[in-house]
Amino acid sequence: MKAFRIFIALFFVLSLFSLTYAIHETIPAETQITLPGADAAKLYEYITKSGPYTLWDLWPGKARMYPGTQPHGDFLTTYVNTAGIFGIKDKKGSMPEGTIIAKENYGSDKKFIALSVMYKINGYNPAGADWFWAKYDMHGKVLAAGRAEACIKCHEKKKDNDYLFTGGLRK
Ligand code: HEC
Repeated sequence: MKAFRIFIALFFVLSLFSLTYAIHETIPAETQITLPGADAAKLYEYITKSGPYTLWDLWPGKARMYPGTQPHGDFLTTYVNTAGIFGIKDKKGSMPEGTIIAKENYGSDKKFIALSVMYKINGYNPAGADWFWAKYDMHGKVLAAGRAEACIKCHEKKKDNDYLFTGGLRK
């Protein structure tokens, strides 16, 4: 009887192990968090909680708090997620799907004012290189979102560089 109980106990422990292993194998850690859709609130939730932008790399070659221009503020810190870093390094002229650029805007006193974000969603806005635009105040309140005309009108000057000012995407 005792041997049988031990057998049952072992059986449970082993099944538990194989189940955890199977789950681990089918859902690798890095794909557990899915990217948000074209939704400013969900995007904010994603970049501040599930995949915090503060843990991403800075735009290559740019330090924290580099001098910026209006309308973005006197000082800027620009973070780029993994997809975007690949895009910058590949030098193919455009960023891949899933790229998120999150730029902190600071005033002349180096106080945080707002967060400006560009997020590439395939098919979202082919006329505007598929960028989803978003701007949040220091508390995360949405100030602009989506196919934001004001953002596009200015960034359009860099149409040949995937609407990006900070660095060239070609060799
Ligand atoms: C009048 C022009 C202008 C407008 C309007 C503008 N931007 Fe920008 N943006 C820039 C410039 C110039 C830079 C480069 C950084 C700098 O020097 O300030 C930049 C940089 C950025 C970057 C970093 C990636 C890049 O392009 O280099 C993001 C993200 C961004 N802007 C988002 C936005 C969003 C979101 C809006 C609208 C709410 C917006 N921008 C409106 C001019 C503009």
